[in-house]
Amino acid sequence: MKTQARFACQECGALAPKWAGRCEACGAWNSMVEELPRAVPPKGLGAGGRRSGHLDFVALRGETAGPPRLLTGIAELDRVCGGGLVPGSTILVGGDPGIGKSTLVLQAAALIAAGGSDAAYITGEEAIDQVRLRAERLGVADTPVRLASAASVRDIMAALDDKRAPDLVVIDSIQTMYLDTLDSAPGTVSQVRGAAQELIGLAKRRGLIVVLVGHVTKEGLIAGPRVLEHMVDTVLYFEGERGHQFRILRAVKNRFGATDEIGVFEMSDRGLVEVPNPSALFLADRSNAETEPGEEGGRTAGAAVFAGIEGTRPVLVEIQALVAPSLLGTPRRAVVGWDSTRLAMITAVLDARCGLSVGANDIYLNIAGGLRIVEPAADLAVAAALISALTETPVPADTVVFGEIGLSGRVRPVAHAEARLKEAAKLGFAEAWVPLRPAGQGARLARTGEGLATVAIGHLSELVARLPAAPRRRVQPAGARRFAAAP
Ligand code: TYD
Ligand code: MG
Repeated sequence: MKTQARFACQECGALAPKWAGRCEACGAWNSMVEELPRAVPPKGLGAGGRRSGHLDFVALRGETAGPPRLLTGIAELDRVCGGGLVPGSTILVGGDPGIGKSTLVLQAAALIAAGGSDAAYITGEEAIDQVRLRAERLGVADTPVRLASAASVRDIMAALDDKRAPDLVVIDSIQTMYLDTLDSAPGTVSQVRGAAQELIGLAKRRGLIVVLVGHVTKEGLIAGPRVLEHMVDTVLYFEGERGHQFRILRAVKNRFGATDEIGVFEMSDRGLVEVPNPSALFLADRSNAETEPGEEGGRTAGAAVFAGIEGTRPVLVEIQALVAPSLLGTPRRAVVGWDSTRLAMITAVLDARCGLSVGANDIYLNIAGGLRIVEPAADLAVAAALISALTETPVPADTVVFGEIGLSGRVRPVAHAEARLKEAAKLGFAEAWVPLRPAGQGARLARTGEGLATVAIGHLSELVARLPAAPRRRVQPAGARRFAAAP
């Protein structure tokens, strides 16, 4: 049978019979690379084929204990994994180059080894000396981690696929691994998939934990962790802004626990340090700003504290907005840590339903501390920051805000209101601007958020009314015009 050459997109994994400059599936340019087709399944697997095999069906209920778990000792990592690492599972740790993946997995391997388990670290990317230097720096050089430099999956299998297999194997990174049975270069989709398949098989057969490190990349020739997501048990993304110390480990898939759980770390000169109370960290800059001289009352307009939920944990963050007259044709939008489509929707609702003219201005929106928020519950806080920036009226410093905004301007209730209020009360906030709850639930809210006064906001225009345009307090620099709220 004539084998057909196939081309695989290195971005999304789509296959095409012919080369194309642009992937039809995801639109990426120059991402198609020729790869050998996989083996065709043998004939006769279908209805008319052999009937020798059979399946053992069992009942859903059975004598099955929850999976045993190996604790790394890094509480933030254990929690993101659903309460420890599950033997026999494969964990993918993805993230931009230089974000701290190698640091995290080396720290985890060292702690596991120090705890009496057998941990191996296989580096295909860095030289042994580089890893040793890092271990030295992290203060874990004396832990009994088995370190090896290898890139051939055949070598790794030969060394590990027996009874003396370690409890944990770190592969740093999957993009450097290759199978000599495949023709394509390391890092291509088929190599990354093939190598991962072998290692996942190893994890299942020997009941060991495999941690795969994978770079997220925009370049065509290196296949990113995306193509592995469906194969592994757990997918963790390590993210953060380059200039910030904070690193956030996010579970986007977990067969053994909840997703959307985050772990917060701080990159220090001695590696990653856990941050058990992220709210305090994300609001730290804020308390500094309040003591800064020069601003009247110590508060700046254009900021609102959002009471968010990340996974199971409430996290308070400051949302900052800057609204400036647009001098050139199309107003500029720069958004960090929040969805720009959602911002466009909120500005449109503010303009159409509340009679403001926010949309015509340049808008800069930033989530302080490098956190990325995906919850629609942040809508109301974003709107508060925008209105505050526009009217130059600060949101009261002891106030948190949350609520989802509909296209009509109505503010809709969000989940976990109690947890949000509790966290805000714990951190000394006195007031919360929250969605109007259906009758009967309002009382419950007021009780749980002890020490916290809740202000129910039913429509966005009520928020606008709370932040009226401030009288001019300062002389504007020449040339600067401010847009105030329309009456
Ligand atoms: P690394 O773990 O090598 O990133 P990745 O594997 O994701 O590519 O770490 C990258 C950065 O972390 C590097 O630029 C230096 C910094 N770093 C520290 O600030 N402190 C430390 O203790 C270590 C080991 C690294
Ligand atoms: Mg690395």
